[in-house]
Amino acid sequence: MTEFSQQTAIIVGAARGIGRAAAERLAGRGVAIVAYDRDEGALQETARAFADKGLSFTSQAVDITEEKAVDAAVAETLKASPSLHILINCAGSTGRTGIKTHEVEAENFDEVYRINLRGAFLMTKAVLPAMLARDYGRILHVASIAGKDGNAGMQAYSATKAGLIGFVKSAGKDYAETGITINALAPAVIYTDMVAAMPDHQVKYMTDRIPMKRTGQLAEAAAVIEWIVSPDCSFTTGFTFDLSGGRATY
Ligand SMILES: NC(=O)c1ccc[n+]([C@@H]2O[C@H](COP(=O)([O-])OP(=O)(O)OC[C@H]3O[C@@H](n4cnc5c(N)ncnc54)[C@H](O)[C@@H]3O)[C@@H](O)[C@H]2O)c1
Repeated sequence: MTEFSQQTAIIVGAARGIGRAAAERLAGRGVAIVAYDRDEGALQETARAFADKGLSFTSQAVDITEEKAVDAAVAETLKASPSLHILINCAGSTGRTGIKTHEVEAENFDEVYRINLRGAFLMTKAVLPAMLARDYGRILHVASIAGKDGNAGMQAYSATKAGLIGFVKSAGKDYAETGITINALAPAVIYTDMVAAMPDHQVKYMTDRIPMKRTGQLAEAAAVIEWIVSPDCSFTTGFTFDLSGGRATY
């Protein structure tokens, strides 16, 4: 079994938030991190912070909604690191929140779909051949409690995260007889830039539903992510792990 110290991980959305926390945690375990994000400035700033700490981190600016860009980025990554072990996809968008279904603009719905679902599909498709070639892989998509329960005021987000959970259920079974697992994680509120950008009443609505009555910490997200993508987590695929402070007990 390959140890973390010999592994390479693509982490999408690693410039900030949950993706950055996961990248830092895994880099600390010796994983070579290849960070993808569409925000080039934030990516460069994160790269500098990792370099200051002596952590392995290379980065590529890529928008995962674009098929050609995704294929080119993954090809470039594989040229530098032919054995790819882990994909963690943390790219996500809430779209407009705090509004009712009849107020959602179709363009905004489409944009959220392109990031949360199409991007997840494109990234998964692009990395699978390299993982199949070595019969090993850990793919993790960060979905959301909104995809399980549905959050009022977040229709596009809830629908596309539910779609992502369904995608993982299906894709996990496709590769269940290989060494590749494909799972999702469904956090409730973890305080990041994404949450800071939402209206206060929307954040209160979500936090009030958490039985622990607090938001999750980035370190708590990174810890569960490390376990899911580890070699030890080998008998679970197509599953959506919980990170909701007791909100989801199913
Ligand atoms: N923070 C929470 O409370 C929470 C709760 C449940 C689920 N999630 C999910 O966890 C994931 C990470 O959330 P976060 O709070 O860290 O978000 P964030 O907004 O802080 O970070 C997301 C990163 O993804 C990048 N990104 C967005 N679209 C992209 C694209 N098309 N291509 C490449 N990069 C792109 C952004 O530039 C950003 O750096 C998201 O999928 C989010 O939906 C977050």
